[in-house]
Amino acid sequence: MDSRIRQLVVIIFIQIWIAAAQNQDSAAMQALKEAWQNTTPPSWNEGSDPCGWEGIICTNFRVTQIYLPSMQLIGGLPGDIGQLPELQILALSYNPGLTGSLTPAIGKLSKLTNLVLVGCSFSGPIPDTIGNLKQLVILSLNANRFTGSIPPSIGNLKHLYWLDLTENQLTGSIPVSKGTTPGLDMLTHAKHFHLGDNQLSGNIPPQLFNSNMSLIHLLFESNKFTGSIPSTLGLVTSLEVVRLDRNSLTGNVPANINNLTNVTEMFLSYNQLTGNVPNLTGMNLLNYLDLSNNKFSPSDIPSWFSTLQSLTTLKMKNTNLRGELPAALFELPQLQNVDLSDNQVDGTLNIGSNPSSQLQRVDLQMNNIVDFTQRLHYTIGLILVNNPICTESGVTDKFCSLLTNTTTSYSTLPNNCIPASCGAGLVSSPNCKCAFPYVGFFIFKAPSFSSLGNATIYNSLRDSLMTFFRKSQFPVDSVSLMNPYRNLDDYLVLNLEVFPSGELSFNRTGILWLGFVLSNQTFKPSKNFNTYVFIAQNYANFLAEVPVAKGKTNKSSNTAVIIGSIAIGGCMLVILLAIAGVYAFRQKGQAQRATQQSLPFALWDPTSGSGDVPQLKGARSFTFEELKKYTSNFSEINIIGAGGYGMVYRGSLPNGQLIAIKRAQQGSTQGGLEFKTEIELLSRVHHKNVVALIGFCFDHGEQMLVYEYIVNGTLKDSLSGRSGIRLDWLRRLKIALGAARGLQYLHDLADPPIIHRDVKTNNILLDERLVAKVSDFGLSKPLSDANRTHVTTQVKGTMGYMDPEYYMTQQLTEKSDVYSFGVVMLELITARNPIEKGKYIVREVKQAMNKSKPLYGLHEVLDPTIGLSNQLKGLERFVDVSLRCVEVTGNQRPPMSQVVKELEMIMELVGLNPGTESSSSTSASYEVMGVDYNDPYSNDSLLSYNGGFLPPELQPKENY
Ligand SMILES: *[C@@H]1O[C@H](CO)[C@@H](O)[C@H](O)[C@H]1NC(C)=O
Ligand SMILES: *[C@@H]1O[C@H](CO)[C@@H](O)[C@H](O)[C@H]1NC(C)=O
Ligand SMILES: *[C@@H]1O[C@H](CO)[C@@H](O)[C@H](O)[C@H]1NC(C)=O
Ligand SMILES: *[C@@H]1O[C@H](CO)[C@@H](O)[C@H](O)[C@H]1NC(C)=O
Repeated sequence: MDSRIRQLVVIIFIQIWIAAAQNQDSAAMQALKEAWQNTTPPSWNEGSDPCGWEGIICTNFRVTQIYLPSMQLIGGLPGDIGQLPELQILALSYNPGLTGSLTPAIGKLSKLTNLVLVGCSFSGPIPDTIGNLKQLVILSLNANRFTGSIPPSIGNLKHLYWLDLTENQLTGSIPVSKGTTPGLDMLTHAKHFHLGDNQLSGNIPPQLFNSNMSLIHLLFESNKFTGSIPSTLGLVTSLEVVRLDRNSLTGNVPANINNLTNVTEMFLSYNQLTGNVPNLTGMNLLNYLDLSNNKFSPSDIPSWFSTLQSLTTLKMKNTNLRGELPAALFELPQLQNVDLSDNQVDGTLNIGSNPSSQLQRVDLQMNNIVDFTQRLHYTIGLILVNNPICTESGVTDKFCSLLTNTTTSYSTLPNNCIPASCGAGLVSSPNCKCAFPYVGFFIFKAPSFSSLGNATIYNSLRDSLMTFFRKSQFPVDSVSLMNPYRNLDDYLVLNLEVFPSGELSFNRTGILWLGFVLSNQTFKPSKNFNTYVFIAQNYANFLAEVPVAKGKTNKSSNTAVIIGSIAIGGCMLVILLAIAGVYAFRQKGQAQRATQQSLPFALWDPTSGSGDVPQLKGARSFTFEELKKYTSNFSEINIIGAGGYGMVYRGSLPNGQLIAIKRAQQGSTQGGLEFKTEIELLSRVHHKNVVALIGFCFDHGEQMLVYEYIVNGTLKDSLSGRSGIRLDWLRRLKIALGAARGLQYLHDLADPPIIHRDVKTNNILLDERLVAKVSDFGLSKPLSDANRTHVTTQVKGTMGYMDPEYYMTQQLTEKSDVYSFGVVMLELITARNPIEKGKYIVREVKQAMNKSKPLYGLHEVLDPTIGLSNQLKGLERFVDVSLRCVEVTGNQRPPMSQVVKELEMIMELVGLNPGTESSSSTSASYEVMGVDYNDPYSNDSLLSYNGGFLPPELQPKENY
């Protein structure tokens, strides 16, 4: 054959081969698109070449990278993903609608380097085939619902740097190599083992650790590990963070633990460790140490107490320490926080003449301290309750009371400007511009500090974020950080808002970039914070896509191809910079949208009995046709609730955001009024613990309200076991506090103040993190200036939760909500309906109660799933608060601000930081004095109201 012909044949052959390969990619991407029907970016509907689709990067016309974080994808991950053999990066984080198992076909992606699926809802076992991904560097499967054990094959991932399986439901023990079976001990390049918040059990195998490892973070907290800490741990001298807390570890702490001289944060707390308190001499970089709640033998105060020069935090509550504290401890230069409560510290407390300037809190309650050298002059928050020094009669020293003032709140301040007042969902940025921020929270698992109110530290984090965005040429106007608190696992949680520059909202490219850099550890905070996990909330307000005329190609699609072509070799940073560089806000004129809000009400008829045109501050208007489409023609399968008001449907916006639509029954004026009340009120309130209104529809004679969809449904569903979410005592406490804060916000901070009037477990929703959100404002009443104390109104609400005083007097006060909330609190611990088989919960609890017994002798009425009785710390106090809330007269009930404070104190009692939302009491009291009433619950016959004959407005309503 002529050589030219031969060459031609070869070229044609190669082209056919390339075309076939491209076809394979195209078919696989088509399958993904079908799996995520209606939830992929609009550009996915333009043409069949996936290289033009948003979030898809091609190299040499092959799909090599998929970035779709925060895209509200719904569906599963089909096995077709395995048909993308060139794929290197698969980043699908923050898509809680992604469910089902992780397909074993994932193992075919032999070139994959990053598998980042943070905060989705994948379940089932992690497939063993994951061990075939020999190039994998980052494996982040955290915050999903994986079950089963850790596949030993992960040990084959020789290049793995980051292994994060935190916050799943993994069981079994940690696999280590044996014969030909691989194990995690083979991961000598890995720097991060993050396995916390699972149900892993068995011993921590000694073979897991060896001196060839390069681990810096070992996070095994909140599992069910037993046995002793292997002494081989002392061989991994590269370690910087060690968290083995909240397990059931026993035995001695290995003597060579202090060989880990690079460790800066160590948590061994909440185990059953025995033997002597470990000798930590020489761990001179240690910042944060928590050894609390173990079973050490009685030990004298160790000498290293005064030598660990970097210490910021020393927590050794309940560790059997005895003897006098050295003054030198308090003079450690960086010391912020000491908790040595519940020990046998004795003698005279001397904090020295020159205590650390950062020292904020010293908790020494329940010790044997008899005197305090600096009794007259000290500035630290000192607690000596339950020491002999405080038990003499007549002692009034401040340190003998629990109420020490620790300020822990932080919020990025406006940048020399006055915050703008913005419409619904819009937030005033630190530069005082209204915009839709990308919101989520950072979870820092081992920060070096413990004082939460230190603005300098957060400002430095803010600045490093801004520097990162600027370097990436990413158009961010500003970032805001707020509400730091320590959660149940002693993680530092911090809210983040990222504001777009130049436009009201980010477009999709912007969001997927943000979602990626924050889920892939691309952004690195300063050493103080150590590593983080970022969990994003749904971004509901993408900048609208420019409609693309047929035949024309979308600009961003071209860009993707170009990026793909130049990025051969796949240096990620280059690609990220490129994405960021071309990141452009295309759509103008969004700002007008917010100002045209009143137009949808052109047809509002004030004479219909519904009052004047609703006054809105933002909230989006939908047409009937739109909502019809989003709910598949209001199909029955989308019904998620029903009540006297009408139906509630689930739907999804074209951008994939899940919504809940409350559709009023047609022709009901009652509905009209409620509709108006609800949009007016809700469009004004913005609080983490109050459900957010997205928009409404007043069209075709329909009245519909569109809310954010709260995935975990009502608190009632969870309490009744319907939702499958187990609520232990700590979760219930958190939920109670969240709901209380939501109500307090309505009472004290909303303008005008709002009385909810229908507080019940059906109207408290739980989001994916079990954050409580107060919902359903259909019956709510604002307090006008003229009616600052109460409104007289027809009695409405739900039997069982209703304030008897209001019922009798028709005078509605904030204390009516307090009553209902008290019932909710009782329901929280008993999981019983307020009125069940003719029994009223308040009376049942009071009757079963015996204050002289542990847990007030309430075992019989407590919900068995709340946890073991030895884990119900603070329950008595919780019952006390709830019973004060259900006092028969309003003026005997505490205001919500007081309830919030009490719940925060209970949280502290159980060892949790309650967070830092304002609990300041700005409320006046709204009592109605000296009313002569008849308690509706005092008469058993009334209890049958729970049956069928309630007037319509008293019928229990489903939420939304
Ligand atoms: C300890 O940290 C220092 C400074 O980061 C580092 O140079 C050193 O290699 C670390 N030691 C080990 C054993 O990794
Ligand atoms: C402590 O670490 C050093 C190296 O950093 C090593 O030589 C020594 O053997 C270790 N000691 C123990 C008791 O593990
Ligand atoms: C603690 O360890 C240091 C250094 O390893 C040693 O010098 C000291 O004697 C030990 N202290 C006790 C009480 O064992
Ligand atoms: C509590 O802290 C706040 C804020 O730092 C301060 O203004 C107030 O004076 C403190 N109150 C007491 C009683 O120390």
